[in-house]
Amino acid sequence: MRRVAFEELIARAAQQVDAGAFLLAGNDPVNPMTIGWCQWGVIWGKPVCTVFVRKSRHTYERMQSGAFTVSVPAPETMKKELSYCGTKSGRDVNKVKELGLTFIPTDEGLTPALEGCALHFVCKTLFHADFDAEKMTEDMDADIRARYYGANQKLGNGDPHVAFFGEIVGAYET
Ligand SMILES: Cc1cc2nc3c(=O)[nH]c(=O)nc-3n(C[C@H](O)[C@H](O)[C@H](O)COP(=O)(O)O)c2cc1C
Repeated sequence: MRRVAFEELIARAAQQVDAGAFLLAGNDPVNPMTIGWCQWGVIWGKPVCTVFVRKSRHTYERMQSGAFTVSVPAPETMKKELSYCGTKSGRDVNKVKELGLTFIPTDEGLTPALEGCALHFVCKTLFHADFDAEKMTEDMDADIRARYYGANQKLGNGDPHVAFFGEIVGAYET
């Protein structure tokens, strides 16, 4: 893997993420989860990658480790893995074993990167913030609220996301 400035990767990562990227939480074991939302930018004077995890996910528990990596596949690749990691829970299956996934350790020694992906953001969690269900009722766009936080979600309260803000301590391309 080649270490690069994180800004160099943002355009490509943002183009791909809607089709799916992998959020890897913790270390030993790593539990890969497919994500469709991710933001990259600068907050608190630091390069930050923000991911959005619902509390019903096994990944939510794994995120308490304080470190995560976002690995982004090249366009039109890893579709089987994205689909599996976006529908199966680490509570029920060992996704790494089932898919035969392998990881690349990074210089930072935090969460490793997923082999086979093109871009990687190694992050150290700085802060996390709950989406407040009551506040969403008051001032979130009604169509968005109904679609993403309606009664169709796993948890009765709409299963709001928790935003995890991670300082990007390493950005790599393979
Ligand atoms: C394309 C796609 C994007 C997804 N994006 C997110 C996301 O950004 N946040 C989230 O909490 N779940 C997202 N999911 C759902 C999780 O990937 C799915 O519930 C997964 O099985 C959770 O795995 P876990 O229980 O091992 O954490 C997405 C699923 C797909 C297919």
